[in-house]
Amino acid sequence: MTEEYSGAINKGLEGVVACTTKISSIIDATLCYRGYTIEDLAEHATFEEVSYLLWNGQLPNKAQLENLKKEFDKEATLNSDFLNLVKDSVKGLPKGAAPMDYMRTAVSLLSFYDPDVNDGHPDAVKRKALRLTAKIGALIGLFEQVRNGREPLSPISGKGLGWNLLYLITGKEPSKEWARIMDVALILHADHELNCSTFTTRVICSSLSDLHSAVVGAIGALKGPLHGGANTAVMEMLEEIATLENADKFVEEAIADKKKVMGIGHRVYKNGDPRAKILQRYSKQLTQETGKKQFYDISVHIDNMMNEKKGLMPNVDFYSATVYSSMGIPGDLFTPVFVASRMVGWCAHAMEQWENNRIYRPRGKYEGPIGLKYSQPK
Ligand code: COA
Repeated sequence: MTEEYSGAINKGLEGVVACTTKISSIIDATLCYRGYTIEDLAEHATFEEVSYLLWNGQLPNKAQLENLKKEFDKEATLNSDFLNLVKDSVKGLPKGAAPMDYMRTAVSLLSFYDPDVNDGHPDAVKRKALRLTAKIGALIGLFEQVRNGREPLSPISGKGLGWNLLYLITGKEPSKEWARIMDVALILHADHELNCSTFTTRVICSSLSDLHSAVVGAIGALKGPLHGGANTAVMEMLEEIATLENADKFVEEAIADKKKVMGIGHRVYKNGDPRAKILQRYSKQLTQETGKKQFYDISVHIDNMMNEKKGLMPNVDFYSATVYSSMGIPGDLFTPVFVASRMVGWCAHAMEQWENNRIYRPRGKYEGPIGLKYSQPK
């Protein structure tokens, strides 16, 4: 018996082009959403505008933006049945329950309360994308407040998604400046071509499953430390290193033991991740402002050492860790914050996948035994 396979095997699908997309592009060290550079959007746009851009292919005019903001405000609050169900569930969770496992479960539960859940019409998909994006802040905030024995806060209309995300998590009204930094972080994480969780989204969509199933699968993929989970791992690493004097030893040992240094390296960017450069500026500013400068200094030291010794550079998760931590977000909520942003990109890719769908069904080259014969257990 022979099996024929065409094409080379690309472990991790490195360099494989699996679909065409008009959503985002990575060319050398330039990331664009729908043709706009990430630097341009981070400087001038809001996360709401970027959501509209990714879903509709163009930036909104004033009326479209106002309408979108109103819709986000309307959908940001959790329905009371859902809220009570999830609140009680969080109270009953074992101590130390992981926030990303909660996110996977809570987003899945949202599907039971979505009136469009099984409607695959493009208009229904857009409504679901909007609801999912609007509610993530309240979901993360609920978890953080309830696990600390407090009542969850309600989102405040007219403030925006970034402002509310910080408010719902920290319980404090953020300054205009911090809300803007949060907004920029959300913009920078919103989409990234065919990364692991976005590919997961498209694979699930390709079987004509539903949007909630696709984004729940994506949350599972994002959780891993080689993907979005790296931001939480970066903060753990910085806290473990603790002082600049310990940084050399930590990196040298990691290299000698062939351990990955979190937040460093990238499959696609070999000349640096443009998002990391923007976040580094905010990391420097915020760590100085909040008396956590040692974490920035350790980060820069690791960044330089990894570049010198391995030719590797920081990715988006490296400096985002100190940005989030400076603004009072607990380390284990960094990856849920990533969900709050990447939800927009996942939904955009779901829409695009369904515009021109074909089921993803690659092959696996079989290397096991053949010709075995069944015999009854003796
Ligand atoms: N620390 C130490 N060495 C690293 C490294 C890191 N963070 N990232 C890559 N390398 C090394 C590998 O050990 C390998 O070295 P070798 O050729 O001597 O064996 C080489 O660089 C290639 O790495 P590889 O893991 O094959 O690259 P990849 O394209 O499969 O993986 C990542 C890309 C991002 C998963 C990888 O760089 C990584 O694990 N980084 C840390 C986790 C992280 O920050 N993830 C967030 C990504 S946005």
